[in-house]
Amino acid sequence: GIYTGQYRPRVHFSPPQHFMNDPNGMFKDADGLWHLYYQYNPKTSVAGDQHWGHATSKDLYTWDNQKIALWPPTNTTYVYSGSAVVDKNNTSGFFPHQDNGVVAIYTLAVYTDHAGVQNQNIAYSRDGGYNFETYANNPVIDINSTQFRDPKVFWHAPTEKWVMVLAYSAEFVIGLYTSPNLKDWSHASNFTHHGLLGLQYECPNLVEMPLQGSDEPMYLLQISINPGAPLGGSIAQYFPGTFNGTHFTAVDGAARIADFAKDNYAGQFFSGITGSEKQVSIAWASNWQYTSVVPTGSEGWRSQMSLPRYNYLKKASQIGYVMVSEPYNIETVYSGELAYNTSLGNSSILIDYSHVPSGALYFEANVTGLTTSTLQGMVNFTFMSSVSGEYVRGGSPVNGDTWLDRGHTYAFDNPYFNDKFSATGTYGDDGIWRVSGVIDRSIIELFVNGGEQSATSLFFAKQPLDTVRIGAAGIAPDAKVSVGVWALKDTWA
Ligand code: FRU
Repeated sequence: GIYTGQYRPRVHFSPPQHFMNDPNGMFKDADGLWHLYYQYNPKTSVAGDQHWGHATSKDLYTWDNQKIALWPPTNTTYVYSGSAVVDKNNTSGFFPHQDNGVVAIYTLAVYTDHAGVQNQNIAYSRDGGYNFETYANNPVIDINSTQFRDPKVFWHAPTEKWVMVLAYSAEFVIGLYTSPNLKDWSHASNFTHHGLLGLQYECPNLVEMPLQGSDEPMYLLQISINPGAPLGGSIAQYFPGTFNGTHFTAVDGAARIADFAKDNYAGQFFSGITGSEKQVSIAWASNWQYTSVVPTGSEGWRSQMSLPRYNYLKKASQIGYVMVSEPYNIETVYSGELAYNTSLGNSSILIDYSHVPSGALYFEANVTGLTTSTLQGMVNFTFMSSVSGEYVRGGSPVNGDTWLDRGHTYAFDNPYFNDKFSATGTYGDDGIWRVSGVIDRSIIELFVNGGEQSATSLFFAKQPLDTVRIGAAGIAPDAKVSVGVWALKDTWA
């Protein structure tokens, strides 16, 4: 099969072949089936001739590839990023006989002799998201701009309107538009020059997001920036805030970065999740700085998505509002416990996992019973190859900076493929410090303190990693260390 090579992740989505970037149009249908579309060049393994690829899943881990959903209408156009909604009440008029009509809202990049215009288009599907017809009166928004893209739409019940956010990319502006019917759009407001500017704004998302322990209605605006991220290339930042139907107001002036490594971009939240439900998101796990040159493996594919994640807001003691990211029901893909030790103390576990068919693991280490006087000690983890000695490692002093190091894997060498990342430590008021993560052949994702901080990082080892050591040192006797490691299923088998 084509889902076999050494770098093919086993619990992450990757395209059958060729090039993938941003997740697009994500929604869950009335039967509980999740739809993922994605920026896809079906011809080569670099970006270029952009289409919308499509896959579906019942659990967000086990995917069925579907046929391409959106094709460029001419050979001088590309279908760029966007979103999809279920138009249950037929506000668009496309769906007189059904309540499961899907409307995709996307940017068409029109290439003529010179740099092309980017305008906003819609297409509708009467078969639940598999086949789309383009709307006869496209574009629905056209301001004759070459840098105007990535519409993300949601239904705002209090005003009974659709709301769109999209990027005036080169002006550091996120535009908000509203519409009664997905066809006629009015400009409502701009959110401009907030946080890190990068060099361009892309792929904005505006979603309702629950705040832990509170009924306060909160929203979150996420803006992807590329190029010009602090570590280079692309990354996303987010702003917690409030939304009144036309204007978004951030809670404060801070720029909050969604990930402390380099491979988490253009994240999108699934359409239709509102109220106190946690949001669910997926991001593109790569970086425009090197995505065109990373190894493709023998199957000729490039790029993978991040794990599906739950997201909600929390007030943290030191920095105020944070968006929590945690793996979405990861226990549903456990295939067996490899280690579980609730009183590790100052020692370590060493596990050979070469017999795990997926090569993918979930792991966690928790230090509990911390008080100000016990704030000392370290937790470290190393995933290594018993054949080549290559390794990926990380850890933290329990109240300090969490770090991750991919610099001792040697199948890819590039000046922008940074080796080391760190996140400034915050120690929870609950006396607990935690790290957890998933390692899946060519990607590692870390979640610190239950996901208050997270990191998504690709790595390319010459030989598969097959051994893990997790250990603690210098932990005070009144604190307790527990560690666990679980094998994950091969969802592509
Ligand atoms: C972000 C992006 C979007 C654009 C798409 C094109 O990664 O540049 O702004 O719509 O990719 O593939």
